[in-house]
Amino acid sequence: MPSPRRVRAFPELESVLISETAIRRRVRRLGREIMAAYGDEPITVIAIINGAILFTADLLREIDNPVRLDCIRISSYRNATKSSGRPRVVQALTLDIKDRHVLLLDDILDTGRTLSLVSQLILKKRPASLRVCVLLDKKGRREVPFDADYVGFSIPNKFVVGYGLDFAERYRNLPCIGVLKPERQVLG
Ligand code: IMP
Ligand code: MG
Repeated sequence: MPSPRRVRAFPELESVLISETAIRRRVRRLGREIMAAYGDEPITVIAIINGAILFTADLLREIDNPVRLDCIRISSYRNATKSSGRPRVVQALTLDIKDRHVLLLDDILDTGRTLSLVSQLILKKRPASLRVCVLLDKKGRREVPFDADYVGFSIPNKFVVGYGLDFAERYRNLPCIGVLKPERQVLG
């Protein structure tokens, strides 16, 4: 006999902002938008890890174009919820992206510093084109001007976790996106 579907509660969350179902639907639509934009062209996807890992894994499966995948690791957090404002590359790209159509993916566009830095690095390598896709956009937080070509969801200025986003490296495995309970926002 099939076991009853497990209904998951998220005791660590104060609220669920975006459900697993809503994420799945939106990622599917983003895949269609991206395929429409690129036609039959091959795409070199660059994921900013760790945050974009889950989003990248799901989005890539919605894209039928020939795809190459590379990752870049950026560190920016001084403590768990406040950005230091100085992102730096801690693991560089490995693929050659000259004359390639590059699609840069990140989990969230916040101050804009990370994507602005990574976009500049990519453009120096003379790709054929660069488009940027983020799952989440906190528009009210921008410190440097930056717009993504594709945005999954615009969200309010709240620190969120889940679906790749972490608090001190935890909660990335939650299937939804939500706001942590204040008592969970402690280190250790
Ligand atoms: P930015 O450079 O300020 O735009 O920050 C981008 C990076 O900060 C993202 O790649 C995330 O890793 C992280 N970040 C920003 N806001 C949040 C959040 O609400 N939860 C978890 N990580 C976040
Ligand atoms: Mg990140």
